Amino acid sequence: MCGIIGVVSGQPVVDRLVEGLKRLEYRGYDSSGVAVLTQTGGVERRRAPGKISALEAVLDKTPIDGVVGIAHTRWATHGAPTEMNAHPHTAGPVAIVHNGIIENYRELRAELGAKGVTFHSDTDSETIAALVATGLESGLDPEAAAKYAIDKLEGAFAVAIIVADRPDIMIGARRGSPLVVGVGADECYLGSDAIALAPFTDNVVYLEDGDWVVIHRGEYEVYDEKGGRVERPVKNVGGAAALAEKGNHRHFMEKEIHEQPEAVGHTLSHYIDPTSETIRPIADVDFTKIDRIAMVACGTASYAAAIAKYWFEGLAGLPVDVDIASEFRYRAPALSPNSMAIAVSQSGETADTLAALDLCKSEGLKIGGVVNVPESSIARMSDVSLPTKAGPEIGVASTKAFTCQLAALACVAVAAARARGRIDADEERRLVRALMETPRRLSEALDMEEDAKRLSTKLAEARDVLYLGRGAFFPLAMEAALKLKEISYIHAEGYAAGELKHGPIALIDKHTPVIFIAPTDHLFAKTASSIQEVVAREGPVILITDKNGADQAGDIAQDLIVGPSVDPFIAPIVYSVAVQFLAYHTAVMKGTDVDQPRNLAKSVTVE
Ligand code: G6P
Repeated sequence: MCGIIGVVSGQPVVDRLVEGLKRLEYRGYDSSGVAVLTQTGGVERRRAPGKISALEAVLDKTPIDGVVGIAHTRWATHGAPTEMNAHPHTAGPVAIVHNGIIENYRELRAELGAKGVTFHSDTDSETIAALVATGLESGLDPEAAAKYAIDKLEGAFAVAIIVADRPDIMIGARRGSPLVVGVGADECYLGSDAIALAPFTDNVVYLEDGDWVVIHRGEYEVYDEKGGRVERPVKNVGGAAALAEKGNHRHFMEKEIHEQPEAVGHTLSHYIDPTSETIRPIADVDFTKIDRIAMVACGTASYAAAIAKYWFEGLAGLPVDVDIASEFRYRAPALSPNSMAIAVSQSGETADTLAALDLCKSEGLKIGGVVNVPESSIARMSDVSLPTKAGPEIGVASTKAFTCQLAALACVAVAAARARGRIDADEERRLVRALMETPRRLSEALDMEEDAKRLSTKLAEARDVLYLGRGAFFPLAMEAALKLKEISYIHAEGYAAGELKHGPIALIDKHTPVIFIAPTDHLFAKTASSIQEVVAREGPVILITDKNGADQAGDIAQDLIVGPSVDPFIAPIVYSVAVQFLAYHTAVMKGTDVDQPRNLAKSVTVE
């Protein structure tokens, strides 16, 4: 997490740095700062705790400008989110911005401290500035001093470095954390991602892990880990700028919920051959030779994996273990030699998911990556690309990326079922037709917004909320609870409806809304019994269901949200919309910061 940006130009850069930072705010928003090289050969900086708007206020009062500068938006790891700990960090003539964690920073601080270096923050990042400054003092030029510093760092980093007196260069380096170079007509840029640079250029170079780069006004040189000059392709990423705008929507989250019919449609069209109504073969995977799938992910992506488990097991008879990546990587998982690993990740940069994949790779497993950012680290380390086509997702709470993950995984499950002879051509056609209907059904599902909005007034008053579901709606209940927690700060739990009687029923009273996610399927009658059990204990029930479900159980639930009648296979995708709207409108009702909820970040590139 943390976002970094840098510009080497002949024109003033501060306004543009701030504009780029705003596009990186999804990576963290605890503090921000900017530093420029001044005309007199010095470094000037402005920093502020809180959001970028706070930095703008500081810059309004005490402006700075220059033609070379770096900027940073922080998600605090080492040290409180204060001005003192905000980036850029400086040491003598050096200023740096850093994303990642320097794991050996204590040793480095002690080493540098013994040489008389004093530190002015609690951060691990400041050691990078101090190391570069030490290198310069010993007579190295800026490039060599940066290399000297980088070689001493352990951990993950993307870093941008400027040096007073040298407005002709900026040095960038990455290990573990992402960094791209933007190539303009007469200026060059560094950024955590292409979206940050979208207002300035569409031409982007994705650095490889271990690369470092020296950028100038109109050119740049990339070096690999060993210091050898390397060429990396320039990619055109046109269109990213427009996609990162809110349009007429109040929040990115609202916009992204409404984009789901289209985003899911794009994703499905990657997998489905509409003419033959089949799933296109998944390149490089023979599902007959795979006996188990290990799925690893974090947060919302892990709930997409948990839903997909029902599909892979139910349709393809393929056992799936779903693991939270941070647990998987440390628990010595027993992987079979014929296992395949599948990572699910919107950003493709989540540190724990990456580390879990490293483990799978070292065990010789084939890696599939269900990833939304095509040039991300996870996408690039995957042997089998399983893309989602959600487009940039800016709201911290994931919505369209989640339903696109479900769509991609549903297609892969059908492909696996067909390859393993578990379904025949007719059944494949039936499932594919259901999938092809999903975008239309999602559009209809958007009509659930009014009901969700109405009921959000109730949820906004609750201290605790329970979400319950059976089958694939159980992991959806967990995702629903996560969504509500994340953005409305209301405590919520997602449980298997059948588990109600084994504990959560003790929580039920007339103040605890219990939300059942239950479009009709073969388990509906059992869910209806659970509803009765809650009602008998005065629990206020909200039932999310279809018309059939409403006819069967609508009279016992206190409130209803009625969505479209769909094939049960695609229902978890379609009914995600209801729980997203509930969380969204409850958060709006409570007045929280929907797109940037407290303490969270969208891309978690630290452990
Ligand atoms: C963070 C985000 C979540 C996301 C999770 C996994 O916690 O706030 O919305 O689900 O990371 O991210 P990924 O990019 O790997 O899907």
